[in-house]
Amino acid sequence: MLSNVKIPELSNPSVYMKNPKRVQEILQSMVKAGSNTVQVISDFDMTLTRFAFNGKRCPTCHNILDNSKLISEDCKEKLKELLNIYYPIEIDSSRSIEEKLPLMVEWWTRAHELLVQQEIRKDLLAMVVRESDAMLRDGYQLFFNHLHEHSIPLLIFSAGIGDILEEVILQAGVFHSNVKVFSNYMDFDESGVLRAFKGELIHIYNKREGALLNTGHFQELRTRPNVLLMGDSLGDLTMADGVQDMENIVKIGFLNDKVEERKQSYLDSYDIVLVKDETLEVPNAILLYLT
Ligand code: TMP
Ligand code: MG
Repeated sequence: MLSNVKIPELSNPSVYMKNPKRVQEILQSMVKAGSNTVQVISDFDMTLTRFAFNGKRCPTCHNILDNSKLISEDCKEKLKELLNIYYPIEIDSSRSIEEKLPLMVEWWTRAHELLVQQEIRKDLLAMVVRESDAMLRDGYQLFFNHLHEHSIPLLIFSAGIGDILEEVILQAGVFHSNVKVFSNYMDFDESGVLRAFKGELIHIYNKREGALLNTGHFQELRTRPNVLLMGDSLGDLTMADGVQDMENIVKIGFLNDKVEERKQSYLDSYDIVLVKDETLEVPNAILLYLT
């Protein structure tokens, strides 16, 4: 296959595509348009970060905080209960997005209420991240550094916690000037104690609304109508809905969990599906091809 000649990584055993020829054509027209017309939009949890390491689950932004010593044992129990109730719903392929949406709002609302009760101090967040098991996917240096070197904007669009996410990429040394973050940010009082979360809640299924609230960002990037989108949930597919005059989009989906049940729906909606692939090898190969 021609595409595999140019990007051999697309033949990796983790790669599944419903229409490889179409992927090849889109990538070719993006190359032709030039890397100065490209922007990257990526989810954070379980997309830029690893799903598992040595057989053990890696934490989301919320989990980093939940597992930390800033949270009381009683609160940890409650947050774990929420995770046990709502995570299976998040990944349940037998329920529609419409059915899941109010339950996801419930999860985020209940979790944020519990976190606010813990009077978390802003000045301790860096320590919490440093002591956590947070792990970006293998190849993250190349991913972030290459985008920066080529002045390609990277929007990290996350239903996680912005303050935690920023600290993870800061400590990894990759929070470069081309990175912009849309996420849930903590609101601290004048003594630096968490009192609430700022602005409109971003949860797993309202990224479209989040994108449309940020028209200014997409207006600034209107000369970049070619998009590389990366996510791990079907909710991530709407992250690029704010892009103006979009010409081409390639959607890369990480399928980490419940692979057999969800594979068909991922193949139907993502152009490239990466099954149990803990690395950024394929996105990196595409970026190298585009630049
Ligand atoms: P995202 O990856 O689409 O940005 O979504 C954030 C992830 O955070 C999502 O997979 C669910 C997870 N999550 C937790 O792990 N704990 C929580 O308390 C909440 C509200 C979400
Ligand atoms: Mg995610």
